[in-house]
Amino acid sequence: MDEIIIEGGTPLSGEVSVSGAKNAALPMIAASILTGGKFTFRNVPVLRDIDSIERLLSDMGVAVETLGNTVHIDTADLNRFEAPYEQVRQMRASILVLGPLLARMKKARVSLPGGCAIGARPIDLHLNGLSLLGADIKLSHGYVEASAKKLKGAEIYLDLPTVTGTENLMMAAVLADGVTILRNAAREPEIAALAGMLNKMGADIKGAGSPIITICGVKKLKPVSTVVIPDRIEAGTFMVAAALTGGDILVKNCNPDHLQALIHKLEKTGAKIQVRDDGVRVKGGGRINSVDIRTLPYPGFPTDMQAQFMVLMSVANGFSVISENIFENRFIHVSELQRMGADITISGNHAMIKGVPKLSGAPVMATDLRASASLVLAGLVAKGTTRISRVYHLDRGYEALEKKFARLGATIKRVRAKA
Ligand code: EPZ
Repeated sequence: MDEIIIEGGTPLSGEVSVSGAKNAALPMIAASILTGGKFTFRNVPVLRDIDSIERLLSDMGVAVETLGNTVHIDTADLNRFEAPYEQVRQMRASILVLGPLLARMKKARVSLPGGCAIGARPIDLHLNGLSLLGADIKLSHGYVEASAKKLKGAEIYLDLPTVTGTENLMMAAVLADGVTILRNAAREPEIAALAGMLNKMGADIKGAGSPIITICGVKKLKPVSTVVIPDRIEAGTFMVAAALTGGDILVKNCNPDHLQALIHKLEKTGAKIQVRDDGVRVKGGGRINSVDIRTLPYPGFPTDMQAQFMVLMSVANGFSVISENIFENRFIHVSELQRMGADITISGNHAMIKGVPKLSGAPVMATDLRASASLVLAGLVAKGTTRISRVYHLDRGYEALEKKFARLGATIKRVRAKA
């Protein structure tokens, strides 16, 4: 397994280009199941999670060809409707094939994703919504077995604004008979991106990005070519890196509208932020103010930026409180940061952080995608050497992160760990 070794302390400066968004590409690729034909996806990030969903689709008879950041998919010969445990276990977002399979094949057999490092990750809201659309849902031997002769439009109120739940139900409803209204829908930019692709395919969706999404079922959809939106979490990770290391980074081809909560909080820490036509420029340096954050559904502060922001607060002046309101176990990175000298106390879903003058490099272990990004950030600012193991977590959601940081002046390299 690879490791990443970092010599910390260098202020990072220069320009970095953000890759396509993993959490936009995954539902969009799943949506290709909805109709037979040739799709082209551009600006697709090269990530393990993208490999996983491509492998899942090809096991169902879909032809997938990846050429760098362009993916060609031909769904004409889709001939299976099952997402096996081995696949879903590795990547829970595989659950996103459930809605489209049900809509196209009238049945689906998808392994229950099970929990992951950050929480139990139930899918009850997905399943309740599908049964309201008329699907017959059975759970047996760890699998969801869903079937429906014809899905019918319905009014669905989501107890929580679930991101993949909103996406699954939107995809299931586009070919249903009649109108579906999703209330308390998730508002993340990736939802609007998916709706944009589905409408280009001939769907009739209004309100994506707002809490009420109306989907009028249509008879037919056509394959399309589309471009994946930039990854707002990758962009945010680089913005925090600039503030953290006292650097000056221009984060290019990101969409600042998708980063308002983070920009607002970074400005309060004292970072200088300039929103430009070609990206967002972030200048650190000087005192880092302590700032409290509470993670919330979009457009609130994103839970996927919580671990990264915690590193910034661990070397800020004074006390801050970070409240994690989305996932029940998303402080796993704390124990690793404490080994690097961070002064953090956990109480329930709150982390109390007392800023320290310096973190110190140490051997640490990545546990989940965003936690591993926070360990890279900590290594970049720590005094001395940090060696991060299990970086396969990082490869799930960041394209060549160590290369991008090296181009910004970091002393960082990836090595093959001794077996
Ligand atoms: C999506 O996960 C993202 N993944 C996550 O990103 C992100 O952290 C999360 O949204 C929140 O923004 C993808 O888009 C592939 P949820 P998702 O359903 O859809 C509860 C990353 O690092 N819930 O919005 O699984 C759930 O337990 C990943 O890229 C139910 O109770 O998140 C959680 O507490 C990590 N029942 C809350 O809702 C359900 O049926 C939000 O979960 C569904 C969700």
